[in-house]
Amino acid sequence: MIENLSKKRMVFGISCLILLTIVVLIIESKWMKAGSRRQEFVIENNSTCWQRETYEVIKDCHPCTAFEIASKSQGVCVHTHNKEVLKCIGGEIVTRSCDRVAWLDERHYWSFQISLSIVGTLSAAISFLRQKTLNRRTMLKIQRELAPGSVDDSLHHLDVPLETFVVLALYRYLEINPSNVVVHFVQCKATSNVLRVVVPRSTIRGDQSVNFIDATNTVPNDEHPALFCQLPSISIERINTIVSGLCGVCRRLTKEHIATVSATSEGLLGFKGNTLVAPADASLWTKFCEVDIIRCVEDLLTLEPVASSLPHELGQFESHLLQPLKSHNIYKLINLVNNVRISSDEEHQKLVGVDQRFDFHANHKFAEGYEKTLADLILFICFDVIERRLSKDFFRKKFPNTMEWLERVDKDDDGQLKRVCNEVMPHRDGQPSPLPWSSLAELQITIPKEFSLYKSDTKKLNLKGDQILTTNQAEVVDILRKVSRIPTDIGSTENDWEANLFSWDTVPMDARPEGGKLPPARILRKRHQLESLVNEVMQLANDGSIIVDFCSGTGHLGILLAYLLPGCKIYLLENKEESQQRAMERVERLALRNVVFFQCNLDYFTARFDIGVSLHACGVATDIVLEKCFAQRAHFVSCPCCYGKLYNLEQVTYPRSSLFQRSELLLREYFCIAHCADQTHDLASDRTNVAKAHQGFYCMDVIDRDRALRAEELGYVVLRKRLKDETCTPKNRLLVGIYGGGI
Ligand SMILES: C[S@@+](CC[C@H](N)C(=O)[O-])C[C@H]1O[C@@H](n2cnc3c(N)ncnc32)[C@H](O)[C@@H]1O
Repeated sequence: MIENLSKKRMVFGISCLILLTIVVLIIESKWMKAGSRRQEFVIENNSTCWQRETYEVIKDCHPCTAFEIASKSQGVCVHTHNKEVLKCIGGEIVTRSCDRVAWLDERHYWSFQISLSIVGTLSAAISFLRQKTLNRRTMLKIQRELAPGSVDDSLHHLDVPLETFVVLALYRYLEINPSNVVVHFVQCKATSNVLRVVVPRSTIRGDQSVNFIDATNTVPNDEHPALFCQLPSISIERINTIVSGLCGVCRRLTKEHIATVSATSEGLLGFKGNTLVAPADASLWTKFCEVDIIRCVEDLLTLEPVASSLPHELGQFESHLLQPLKSHNIYKLINLVNNVRISSDEEHQKLVGVDQRFDFHANHKFAEGYEKTLADLILFICFDVIERRLSKDFFRKKFPNTMEWLERVDKDDDGQLKRVCNEVMPHRDGQPSPLPWSSLAELQITIPKEFSLYKSDTKKLNLKGDQILTTNQAEVVDILRKVSRIPTDIGSTENDWEANLFSWDTVPMDARPEGGKLPPARILRKRHQLESLVNEVMQLANDGSIIVDFCSGTGHLGILLAYLLPGCKIYLLENKEESQQRAMERVERLALRNVVFFQCNLDYFTARFDIGVSLHACGVATDIVLEKCFAQRAHFVSCPCCYGKLYNLEQVTYPRSSLFQRSELLLREYFCIAHCADQTHDLASDRTNVAKAHQGFYCMDVIDRDRALRAEELGYVVLRKRLKDETCTPKNRLLVGIYGGGI
């Protein structure tokens, strides 16, 4: 029990005991005084002169000797064993019995006090030693937990990657009910990206609805499917779903908060609930909040005092905040803020008086625009760490707009998010230490003039900000001449399936394209697309195979496979929640038990699988899918799409194969071919430039040949086919990769 007491309580308890003892002693001594009646047995000379005369005590009450008591030689000693000597005024000297010896009482009192102090000191020493032992044991326990190897979900201090820190802070800020959303994970992979955080017990208890899985030493398996993805991930068991990635997880938590804590927080998810919904490779915003700012904080945490510059993301955000606001529902916003009624630019220009016009700069209050969204919360948590590292004064001086924004976000909820950051961030060890002023002063800071996160036009720009190519036919002809000099066969073969391996007649409505609410005109075409892919997969699959439908959308391919291959496990991976929601409804109606949903950027998927499939995974997504398959030596069946959207990523660079890399093709020329591959318009249409369309089909084959060559270099046999019927989609190429040569 003693270990449950705090030091304060222990001191308070001991003080109470001492006080009680003193009170008892005082009462007792008073009571004794009041109640003491002197026992007076006068034996010697049988005189009672003191009762009639005044007298003086010539010898105080003192104990009789042992002999006097034992021999009963003195009558006064028989009863109380004490005696005193009196002298009456008449000169008579008498001995009378008495019952209290002052010096004896005093001696007893002090011996009692001394023994009490000894007992008190001993108890304090024992408590102190016990406390020390318990502290040491707790420290050992924490160290054991933090070492890779074991986990205890009662832990208070966790070493977690930065992304998890953001999620935990948000989890606490949004007051997620721990019985709905359960945190129980510790993950510490690399020291560079690790913060020591404080997590209260209350947040790591509860039933299972949404789980943060412990990843310290857990092998990914069916019991811990969240580990099938990069962290942070949450698994929502009741709907067989794993959500992964910083923004996806934060969006889920925000939705949980809106549903259970505060419906008025809906604005956090932005216009039409779309804040941070697109994957990082398709949205500058998601990329900034999920990748760039995290890297920026990591760089700052590990920044050497001799570093020459600060991470450029700091300057980018400072510059972005200076840009004029952009908003989807701009006229609605202008009308609301300026109390006017306009619906066009012209009307806005006509407004009299400058104050009636909307100030696009001043109203850029929060990261995404006029109102606070989830992006502000994620960025605030990150910038809070940055501010600790750079010091407030330095930060204010160099990044005044960011500082102003930080203060605005802080004020917007009366400092609640800041308080949570302080609570989660430990106050002593593990706290990012401020960099010394001397080294800060030396650092180069670049604030770009025009950087804006509003530049979301990825049609014209790729995410690195490079202009996407436009092509000139003469140039294309030259480039294709270079291609013809690459010693390889370019081209694809007709689909040779005589008949499907399944019959649509036996497939229930929800597993057919009709179940995905496709417009009637597209149903037949989708059926043809699916047939070509499903035939290949059915040929490759065995009972127990794990098949991943990457970029599954509303689930056309994955659901059909799950229905046709009940002995296989099918993972449906899709970034877009709404699309996946529709797939979930179909799976529920079909009562399929072999489907698991992954709502995440496909890049975050890390699980083992046997066959990877993708139907129209856009641009670079197809190559990420293929890389995932290569990493698992899994077979693949992939129908690519949006060739013009290829660009170099950290994990995927072009050309893909060493043969193409060694060729005379320049990167720019390669992307030019990819661009032309998107000019495969419908050959049946009168408006189609047939020559360009044929060139487009050839360009698709060039890019796919490069993809196939890369797979072949890694031990695959690759079939390059066309879908049957070829007109079912302009993006009708099919790559079938069999690891090790297969069939
Ligand atoms: C053209 S749709 C194809 C959907 C589905 N396979 C079909 O054929 O109906 C492409 C899908 O890929 C998803 N997607 C794109 N990039 C993604 C990524 N990086 N991670 C996960 N999903 C992604 C999109 O949300 C979209 O639903």
